[in-house]
Amino acid sequence: MDMGTRTGRSWLRRGGVCLWALLAAGAAQAQEGRPWLDPAVPTAQRVELVLGRMTLDEKISLVHGNFGSVLRKTRPDDKRIGAGHVPGVPRLGIPDLYESDASLGVANGGTMRPGDVATALPASLATAASFDPAIAYEGGAMIGAEARAKGFNVLLAGGANLTRDPWNGRDFEYLGEDPWLTGVMAGAAIRGVQDNGIMSTLKHFALNAQESGRYVLDAQIAQGALRESDLLAFQIALERGQPDSVMCAYNKVNGDWSCENDWLLNQVLKRDWSFPGWVMSDWGGVHSTVKAALAGLDQESGQELDQEVYFGEPLQTAIGKGTVPEARLDDMVRRILGRLFHRGLVDRPAPDSPQPIDYAAHGLVARRAAEAGAVLLRNEGRVLPLSTALKRVVVIGGHADVGVLSGGGSSQVQAVSGSPLRMPIPNGPANLGFIKITYHGSSPLAAIKARLPGAQVTFLDGADPAAAAAAATGADAVLVFATQWRTEAIDLESLALPEGQDALIAAVAAANPRTTVVLETGGAVLMPWLGKVGAVLEAWYPGDQGGEAIARVLFGEVDAGGRLPLTFPAREEQAPRPQVPGLANVKAAAAEQAAKPRTPGATTVDITGGVKGFDVPYVEGADVGYRWYGRQGLKPLFPFGHGLSYSRFRHDGFTAQGGARPSVRFTVTNTGDRPGVDVPQVYAVVPGADGRPARRLVAFQRVELAPGQSVAVTLPIDPRLIARYDSGAAAWAVSGGPVPVVLARDAGDTGLTATLAMSALSLKP
Ligand code: BGC
Repeated sequence: MDMGTRTGRSWLRRGGVCLWALLAAGAAQAQEGRPWLDPAVPTAQRVELVLGRMTLDEKISLVHGNFGSVLRKTRPDDKRIGAGHVPGVPRLGIPDLYESDASLGVANGGTMRPGDVATALPASLATAASFDPAIAYEGGAMIGAEARAKGFNVLLAGGANLTRDPWNGRDFEYLGEDPWLTGVMAGAAIRGVQDNGIMSTLKHFALNAQESGRYVLDAQIAQGALRESDLLAFQIALERGQPDSVMCAYNKVNGDWSCENDWLLNQVLKRDWSFPGWVMSDWGGVHSTVKAALAGLDQESGQELDQEVYFGEPLQTAIGKGTVPEARLDDMVRRILGRLFHRGLVDRPAPDSPQPIDYAAHGLVARRAAEAGAVLLRNEGRVLPLSTALKRVVVIGGHADVGVLSGGGSSQVQAVSGSPLRMPIPNGPANLGFIKITYHGSSPLAAIKARLPGAQVTFLDGADPAAAAAAATGADAVLVFATQWRTEAIDLESLALPEGQDALIAAVAAANPRTTVVLETGGAVLMPWLGKVGAVLEAWYPGDQGGEAIARVLFGEVDAGGRLPLTFPAREEQAPRPQVPGLANVKAAAAEQAAKPRTPGATTVDITGGVKGFDVPYVEGADVGYRWYGRQGLKPLFPFGHGLSYSRFRHDGFTAQGGARPSVRFTVTNTGDRPGVDVPQVYAVVPGADGRPARRLVAFQRVELAPGQSVAVTLPIDPRLIARYDSGAAAWAVSGGPVPVVLARDAGDTGLTATLAMSALSLKP
């Protein structure tokens, strides 16, 4: 059954709304002189009708909105105040915009109001690791259904930045390093959200690839390279997901702030991609009135975080003076209203009072995503899957006795399973005191014990490596849970596991080679102990039912279905930048702030924390992640796409069809003795940014096969994935001729080869 569709449509049935009733109501509204409320009138006409009745004040009020945290102080009982709010125009029947963060679930803005829970999906990296758009869709549909039931109508979802740097604090919120995978998965997730009749963003546009200095840094990259990488991910997500809004990023791109960047907003997004929706700013991402308005920004969000409410009075003044034409304001409003009508939010508004939510069904959605995205990185001597006949099992570390780790920041969800641990960031900056290291209440230990009723299962917290090693000696199986916490606003300074966990794992593995390490990380991590342990399962932040999902994979109730959506480096120096750019500026500012006395009663917020601006040159250009490793001849710890199954698969019959509509065909056979998941990946080999050959993922397919079962797979290839973006000609250019393609298990695998005989193509941007 398609759970996503069922969840997505449930509001329609619950509301008991049917078309004739809407039409009848619309006709009545029309009689009252509000014809735009008639659903039978075409959307474009409805927009013009209502726009014609709006006063200048009403138009202005729709293009700037409040920061939720500020409003929550004045409206403490209004549960619909999430990350942001934009008042509607009640006299004309235009609803308020109630905005919630939603990368992994309906986020609670860090408030942790009692009982204000929501289903927490695993990290987006886990969703990406499933290589299954249906998993992404189902997750989006689940979040959308909960959001609607809670009265929200705009979800700040659809994070599609490429994970360019392995230490990015927000890597867990994104979908990996590849434009095709990111675009396909983000598009599916957005469709899932919007199929609930509510709106979603696609964010953060563009190149917000690190958190350190995100409010001040200038991302430097050639336009063509950006088109072939991050922008291509956004473009594919936009085509497939059709988000109602795009959120511009904090940082500058090539000298201009993203939210006043004419090239990004007017030329690429609105002209080249014909985006019909509206551009909203990130919270505190606006720096001007006239420049931003003329560059294509349509709505200022979280206005209290900007230095001025630029789209309030200053915009009104600019219109009065003619420095911003009123037609441009009309365009902003038209874009917002257009999507409101299109998405059905005027005819079928989100409910005013909370509706019941089927958390049990939604928990299963989260569990399925965690299972599908768990990546078996190593499995020497078939340490996994575990047998239920084991007699003595030792579980160590990672607070596995109480729950599973989650990532911090605006995406934080107060999980249905509870929050048994909420700890402050050790030595964290004062302004980020609201961010807590949070565990969801789904205990892996409890789930493991439930599968071993007759066994002795011991838990140690791992604080004492010698004691852990002693307990592990002679056990039938040892499971070490290792964690790496990441959060929005802070990057990692090291990819090593923190708090002595490497030493713990090394000590335990030395005592017992049947040691499995279960990683709960928000991205890549170094593994100096790798050769010593039996197995490694990357469970990411596994979400609301993470404990259960991990146990199901460990015991082989489901296959470990995930494949890495990003490269795990062998050493930090392998990354295109050997350390976080601008870290010195961030540290200097933090020291200065700490020394400064606090100004009592200060009203303006400086979200930059006083960090001085700096440039980040993206030297890898379009060759993000595995493309960089390939072109530099670097061998990572684990390549993009890597992941083992409990079964074995054969690929054969690989053929490629070129021309203007390229495609590939092949057969996959499960040659093992158990059902399993395979993710065949097709890479094209094209010249990289420096002319050396680099691989590009052009197609993938997740398949689940019974033992002995075969499936024939045909996959089309989007020619833009093998094209060069020619900035001079403003077109994608495929030169024509042979293009090698490889059917592989990961980005480093030799695989099977074939050749696409490509036609010369020039495709619109
Ligand atoms: C984040 C966005 C988020 C917004 C509202 C910003 O700091 O970058 O992703 O949607 O806050 O919470």
